[in-house]
Amino acid sequence: MRDPNRVLIFDTTLRDGEQSPGATLNLAEKLEIARQLARLGVDIIEAGFAIASPGDFEAVSRIAQEVGQLDNPPIIASLARANKKDIDAAWGAVQWAKRPRIHTFLATSDIHLEHKLRISRSDCIEQVGEMVSYARSLCEDVEFSPEDAGRSDPAFLWEVLRVAVQAGATTLNIPDTVGYCTPQEYGKLIAGIVENVPGVKEGRVVVSVHCHDDLGLATANTLAGLLAGARQAEVTVNGIGERAGNTSLEEVVMALKTRSQFFGGLYTNIDTTQLVRTSKMVSSLTSIPVQPNKAIVGANAFAHEAGIHQDGMLKNPLTYEIMRPESVGWNSTNLVLGKHSGRHAFADRLRQMGYELSREELDRAFERFKALCDKKKVVSDADIEALITDQFEMLEDDLYRLDEIQVATGTGNTPVASVRLIDKEGEPHQDAAIGNGPVNAVCNCINRITGANAKLLEFHVHAVTEGIDAIANVTIRVEMIDAHGKRYVFSGRSADTDTLVASGKAYLAAVNKGLRRVKRVADTTA
Ligand code: KIV
Ligand code: ZN
Repeated sequence: MRDPNRVLIFDTTLRDGEQSPGATLNLAEKLEIARQLARLGVDIIEAGFAIASPGDFEAVSRIAQEVGQLDNPPIIASLARANKKDIDAAWGAVQWAKRPRIHTFLATSDIHLEHKLRISRSDCIEQVGEMVSYARSLCEDVEFSPEDAGRSDPAFLWEVLRVAVQAGATTLNIPDTVGYCTPQEYGKLIAGIVENVPGVKEGRVVVSVHCHDDLGLATANTLAGLLAGARQAEVTVNGIGERAGNTSLEEVVMALKTRSQFFGGLYTNIDTTQLVRTSKMVSSLTSIPVQPNKAIVGANAFAHEAGIHQDGMLKNPLTYEIMRPESVGWNSTNLVLGKHSGRHAFADRLRQMGYELSREELDRAFERFKALCDKKKVVSDADIEALITDQFEMLEDDLYRLDEIQVATGTGNTPVASVRLIDKEGEPHQDAAIGNGPVNAVCNCINRITGANAKLLEFHVHAVTEGIDAIANVTIRVEMIDAHGKRYVFSGRSADTDTLVASGKAYLAAVNKGLRRVKRVADTTA
């Protein structure tokens, strides 16, 4: 029997979150995040959209095989449109998990039915019945989402949901796909579903909330939905996702925990001390920075600047702090490693930070750590995080790797860069280019060598720690156009004690992703 106060956390960082522009993650990165999500205690991991590409299918399967096979593992779900091909792919990928789930969806708003799907309401009902029952014939755990539920006619929505339940759906997820609802409206929508769809009040079917943040209301809407009877929240770490993003996991979890009485004792299974670590990992691996004032996990979330506040805090932290920073995983003791630290201590530190590396990965990371120790006296967690995420970025199937960079720049001179890249066959390629700045010269040179038509959209550099020997962490976003004229955004990041080297490596990482995509498009159309 389910505890009526328990809220299930359905994490969709690897699916809806990965739909953020430029946030593409490789297999190793997705596995690392999935392992951390399991440690965090999420109930369901939506590992991807299996039909989307062979890479997505492989990632969902591997997560199902590894994380889905842990002791007491989270449910592993894959998204599928309401058609047999998608559902087969989803099942093919999640079937390896101890607790698999197929999550299928079809839009129900008139806007989507008329303009996107071009089907009638009765076609929609028929398709939902057939496809949910097909999914149920493969998997016992089926979730159905009426896309754009937030703008759907409630009476029609209830009808569709009743059919989904009759066909075997065990979770009904209600997306506010375009982030249009207000908390009052969304709460009312959920309450109407609880009241009018048989199975929900009896506890046979769980209602789930899924909100987008276009009006900055995603967390408020999610909490309103939970107050109205939903018992699953679909969220992403740091709130990443399409456009303005999804509901942020850490905000919902901490709101329920901090205001437990207000929410009538609703609670989750999340180990909140893992929140900051998870946030940092997702931010590093997706190259999406967390804004400093972000609730719970932003760098300033627990910083007190004003004198009056500091005075109050010293007298009693309760004056200005509603949560303890340690309760969400901010710890003041940041153990530093140095050149006398051994492999064991290094591996141990990585494990504590949530990274589980294979023997080969660890060998490589340790070698790079030692090289860094020659340049930096003390190596902090932030340095190690930069080093590890940089390593994940380097893929076996990268078309080029950076071998050498030289840049000449100065006042009154046009910056000129000379770059040597090594291709997959081990052949060197060298060229030189000018630019309106040293980084621009390096990027132009990489474009010349690779033939990429990449355009730099964003460039961020930040010093990982303080001091003259700090590592520079560079995050880059580039735009590339494929053979069909379709526009893509790719991100790249790198860390090095030399800012220009980090910039070149980050740019090349993004270009490599783009070249792989262009190649895939060419292969599938050949
Ligand atoms: O926002 C949305 O509608 C979705 C569904 C596919 C669940 O992400
Ligand atoms: Zn969504």
